[in-house]
Amino acid sequence: MTNPFDAYRMDGRVALVTGAASGIGAATCEVLAASGASVVCADVNADGLADTVAKVEAAGVRAVPVTCDVTKRADVAAMFGTAVRELGKVDAVANIAGAMFPGLIEDLDDETIDKGIDLNLKGVLYGTQYAIRAMKETGGGAIVNVSSGAIDLPYAGIGVYAFTKAAVAMLSMTAAVEAGPYGVRINIIAPGQTMTPFTTWRLYKEDGSLDQQAFDDFLEYSRGLSPLGIVGESLDQALLIQYLLSDAAKYATGQIFRVNGGQTWSW
Ligand SMILES: NC(=O)c1ccc[n+]([C@@H]2O[C@H](COP(=O)([O-])OP(=O)(O)OC[C@H]3O[C@@H](n4cnc5c(N)ncnc54)[C@H](O)[C@@H]3O)[C@@H](O)[C@H]2O)c1
Repeated sequence: MTNPFDAYRMDGRVALVTGAASGIGAATCEVLAASGASVVCADVNADGLADTVAKVEAAGVRAVPVTCDVTKRADVAAMFGTAVRELGKVDAVANIAGAMFPGLIEDLDDETIDKGIDLNLKGVLYGTQYAIRAMKETGGGAIVNVSSGAIDLPYAGIGVYAFTKAAVAMLSMTAAVEAGPYGVRINIIAPGQTMTPFTTWRLYKEDGSLDQQAFDDFLEYSRGLSPLGIVGESLDQALLIQYLLSDAAKYATGQIFRVNGGQTWSW
């Protein structure tokens, strides 16, 4: 019998990751590379990709940095074109790019609503569309779309974020039904509080230095959300994404997976 853990290997596969310059996206590129996949590392922040690319290459696989604004269909189409031209195919896609758009529902202006929908919903939708098209050409593949624990319970002031992330879950479940017959699996992750610039940006002073007291308070508060008394790190999400993109998850599709420290969102 072969080693059952071989199912997690992705040698010879081509993965494409959005949001690759930071946080969960950067960690996902690193983990995918460690499992043997070449990685297209995409982000709107081109300068931020250097570190991710270096870590992927250090694993002995190819990294292809791509500057892509996922809110623009033409950018996403071009990104998949680059992936196929440079690496021949696309086997695995993680649509991770996303951001918070705060505001009470009654106060939301059109700019905030549109920006939230464009990034968190349409960005993932475009990435899913082009991924399915590319994977149908080669007989299959796997996609992971990033939603959020914010879809589980309402929390005042993050409505755009929560409803766009809820829509990501349903678009992915629908796409999984449609693309399954072509060998394409599509799953969703709904991360709990994870320490990345997404969560820590408020903890920096105007001069750019870390407000240590605010950081410590935030850490304590975040740990208090979990019965384990810990807060998540990017690697916790990246390892789940790698599992879902690998053959280890060959029977998993159309599902929402939650790595959240058992948070009950009593914030
Ligand atoms: N960190 C958390 O606690 C947490 C919890 C639940 C869900 N999430 C989700 O996980 C995903 C990754 O978050 P993170 O914590 O790593 O955040 P992060 O801010 O560290 O990374 C987000 C990345 O997305 C990129 N990005 C933003 N707009 C883009 C665009 N238009 N086109 C391409 N790239 C763009 C940013 O440049 C950045 O590199 C997001 O979708 C977020 O909503 C995060």
